[in-house]
Order: sequence, then C-alpha cells, then structure tokens
Amino acid sequence: MWKDKDISIENILKDEVPNHIAIIMDGNGRWAEKRGLSRSNGHREGMERVIEIVKSSVNIGVKHLSLFAFSTENWKRPKKEISAIMNLLVVFIDRQLKRLVENDIKLNIMGDISELPEKSRKAVEIAVKKTNNNKKMILNIALNYGGQNEIVYSIKKIFKDIEKGIITIDEINEKKVYDYLYTKGQPDPDLLIRPSGELRISNFMIYQIAYTEFYFSDVLWPDFVEEEYYKAILDYQKRNRRFGGI
Ligand code: FPP
Repeated sequence: MWKDKDISIENILKDEVPNHIAIIMDGNGRWAEKRGLSRSNGHREGMERVIEIVKSSVNIGVKHLSLFAFSTENWKRPKKEISAIMNLLVVFIDRQLKRLVENDIKLNIMGDISELPEKSRKAVEIAVKKTNNNKKMILNIALNYGGQNEIVYSIKKIFKDIEKGIITIDEINEKKVYDYLYTKGQPDPDLLIRPSGELRISNFMIYQIAYTEFYFSDVLWPDFVEEEYYKAILDYQKRNRRFGGI
C-alpha cells in the first residue's frame, strides 16, 4: 500500500519513466451525474485533467502520451453530448496550442478526422500542422478511433502498397505492420491507465498493447489529478517486465 507521503514526483525513478503512456479517459459522465450536473460538465472537467496530465507528462519525461478522447462507437451518444465533446476539442486547442508549441509537443491524431464537424476538424488540422516539427513529446489524441478499425485501415493501405509495387507480401511481418498504424514510428505503450473502475480495453490500441502493463483505478477521470497519475507510474515502476522471457 502507498502511504500518502510516497506518492510524489520526487519518488519517480527518472531513468525508469514509461516512455509511452496510454490513457482511456473514462468516467466523465458518472462524475457529472453524481453531482447532478450535465454529462457535458463532466467532459469539461475531464478536459482540465487532460491539460494537467500533459503538463505532468512533460515534467516527468514521458516521450509519448496517447489519450482516448472519442471512439468510433461514441457517435451513438446523444447529439448534444457529441457536440459538447467536439466543442471542447476546439476549446482545448484554443487554450493550449501556444503551450504545445512552447513546450515542443507534437500533436498526432489517431483516427479518421474527416468525419468530425468542420470546426473541430479544422482546429485539429491547424494544431497538427503547427506542432509538426516538435520533438520533446508526442501527444496522440484518439478521435473517431477504434483499434479494430485501425487494423482494417492498415490492411487496406498495405494492399494498396502491394498493388503499387511499393512492398511485397514477403516483407509483411509484425514489425512492418507498425508502419501502417496511426502511431507509425512510435514505440508501444509501456503503461496503459484506465480510470473509473472498468476492467476492459474498449478497442484502444489493440495492436500496440501486446506487452503493455495495465493499471486500473476506481477514480473517475475528472478526479484523476496529478497524484493519481504518479501513483500509476510508481506502481508501474515496481513491476518486472519480461516480454515473454524469464
Ligand atoms: C469517457 O467518459 C469520456 C469521453 C467519451 C470523452 C473524453 C473527452 C474529454 C476528456 C474532453 C475533451 C478531450 C480533449 C482531448 C480535449 P464517459 O462519458 O464514458 O463516462 P461514463 O462512463 O461515466 O459515462
């Protein structure tokens, strides 16, 4: 068990910081409902945690941060909630683009943004372009994303490249497939965090998490403050990763 005094940034081992952290941000709706607020209020508070976690990740030395913001299945939600999330994306970029640039953070999108409302899509495209050459950390935001969908999309691109003679069937192996994923050129997540008490992966980065360590927490995403993040990283640092070896 952690004692409160142990959960601090000073106790994180600098040379064992997870290189890549993935987070399924969950529980915004329940957080709001518990307080008699609309679900959109939960998402707004969730966005504040996004801002804090990005900042903490840079401070700790995380090089890749992947956040699940909107899944291919989330279109089934009420229109009002969808537009609140899409609007928050614009607010997030308005408020944070300058900081992303100043802090040398590159924004990379996982998912098909062509289906996003125009205002959100344009804001995202501008932010991706403006941060394209940044090097300190890559912030992957999954929007209209599904892991199975990503694999199907990669299979189609592989077939197209075979047709064009760019690659041959014999060149396709586990490693080559990575070149066709949204995270091309990036290492697999070392740690996947899921708050809100749900014990499932929900179709997030299913190709990339083969050897990823999982951390589940009962805390709802809007309550997932810095200390909760440090707790997850400290827990990860106690583990012994064997990658199939002994
Ligand atoms: C899951 O909680 C959360 C979402 C579907 C949306 C996540 C969006 C944000 C955190 C804000 C915008 C993001 C960025 C990157 C600016 P839920 O609604 O499924 O919660 P529930 O399980 O309690 O209903």
